[in-house]
Amino acid sequence: MTRNIEATDRDLFAQVMDYANRANPYPLYARLRETPVVRADDGLYIVSTYEEIRSLLFHPKASSHVVSRPRFPRTGNLFTDWIMNPIKARIAEKHRSLVFRDPPEHDGLRRHIMLQFTPERMQRMKGRVAAIIDELIAGIQGRRQIDLVEAFSYPLPVAVICELLGVPAQDERKFHAWSKSLIAGLDPEQHLTEADLQKLAVNNAAISAYLGALIKEKRRRPSDDVLTGLATCRDKKAGRLNHFDLITTAVSLLVAGHETTVCLINNGMLTLLRQPEILTRLRLDPDLAPRLVEELLRFDPPAQFMRRKALDDIDIARVRIPKGAMMVLLVASGNRDPKRFTDPDRFDPDRKNNQNFGFGAGLHACLGAWLARMETEAALAALSRRLINPSLAEDPPSYRSTAVVRGPERLLINIEGVT
Ligand code: HEM
Repeated sequence: MTRNIEATDRDLFAQVMDYANRANPYPLYARLRETPVVRADDGLYIVSTYEEIRSLLFHPKASSHVVSRPRFPRTGNLFTDWIMNPIKARIAEKHRSLVFRDPPEHDGLRRHIMLQFTPERMQRMKGRVAAIIDELIAGIQGRRQIDLVEAFSYPLPVAVICELLGVPAQDERKFHAWSKSLIAGLDPEQHLTEADLQKLAVNNAAISAYLGALIKEKRRRPSDDVLTGLATCRDKKAGRLNHFDLITTAVSLLVAGHETTVCLINNGMLTLLRQPEILTRLRLDPDLAPRLVEELLRFDPPAQFMRRKALDDIDIARVRIPKGAMMVLLVASGNRDPKRFTDPDRFDPDRKNNQNFGFGAGLHACLGAWLARMETEAALAALSRRLINPSLAEDPPSYRSTAVVRGPERLLINIEGVT
């Protein structure tokens, strides 16, 4: 027996997507949770409660193939428009990122990354993270107001991922705009314009060409980094990465490896500055950092939702999601579900049993979770210790435009100096 969906529930997701609600979508999520699964006016099925999200993240018929073939803008050149770009688009769709692939293809790609993310490499990054944090805080010396994004939370993860992959950090100027566009392209297609989709195709091609050239260089002059490892690895089980999969994997790591971490550090500092007593606790007890970051991943996660496509009819919460339908799993709402978390709107670093969806769950659970946790713990502990009397100069701050990867675009903080 399927349930009739209330008309009033249906446009709530449009309000979530509306930039006017970016600073605080949580009251909308609470209203959405009154009906765990709704079909929005744009045809998307919105899933907002913890148990339903969890079951879909593990559902064999909930596919991650949610992106369509790239759409290049017309150039007026017949050869480019009718031959080259359609070929490029087909290749890009077939060799899309592992996050958009289903098994068995997905599993080989994931294995290749896991083989490169060795414990030794990750441990080495720990020392580098501490050194980069020190450099960035030294750069703040003498200032009374900073934009934390510009001065700290953006450059830190960029430096880390560049070093890990073997991408020259000074190339950030090149890939910054491409990367931002790829993240914006994660919003549901129904909410992107034709111009957005075309920009996405062009920027994806540009970042792929850039990393393709860099990988060629790595083959000629191998070094101890992840890109060299991916380009040269011949694994007994997963074989060799083909040229196109290698490039998309490199793109996924470069983009996923920093954009989300920037948001987690910013969301963290914003939360702490709104609750100075917890900032003080962290300053006095840096061992609080792991629990605090875990709670942050629940309370204000950068990745607000994931998309899936029904490969068959799926019955859930008395709603039939028909084969072919697109779903939005509102994980940030599941993280505030009162049926799963006591007093969910309270930021409580002492919370027990905190299995949240901050890094997803199931087959696609984040591969960079260890690295992102380590960076954010070190960043927040250092900021709490070294900024003297920090306070928010603007609350709420201005947010990035995308809904899916959510966080401040700018975070102005007044300080009395740094120690
Ligand atoms: C705070 C920072 C981060 C957050 C919040 C985050 C969040 C996520 C989430 C929610 C997913 C699952 C997507 C889905 O199920 O559709 C994911 C997947 C992934 N993340 Fe992260 N991530 C972060 C940092 C990183 C870093 C630092 C890296 C790499 C160095 C990384 C690499 C990946 C990759 C490769 C996947 C795809 C895994 C797969 O499809 O099997 N992430 N991430």
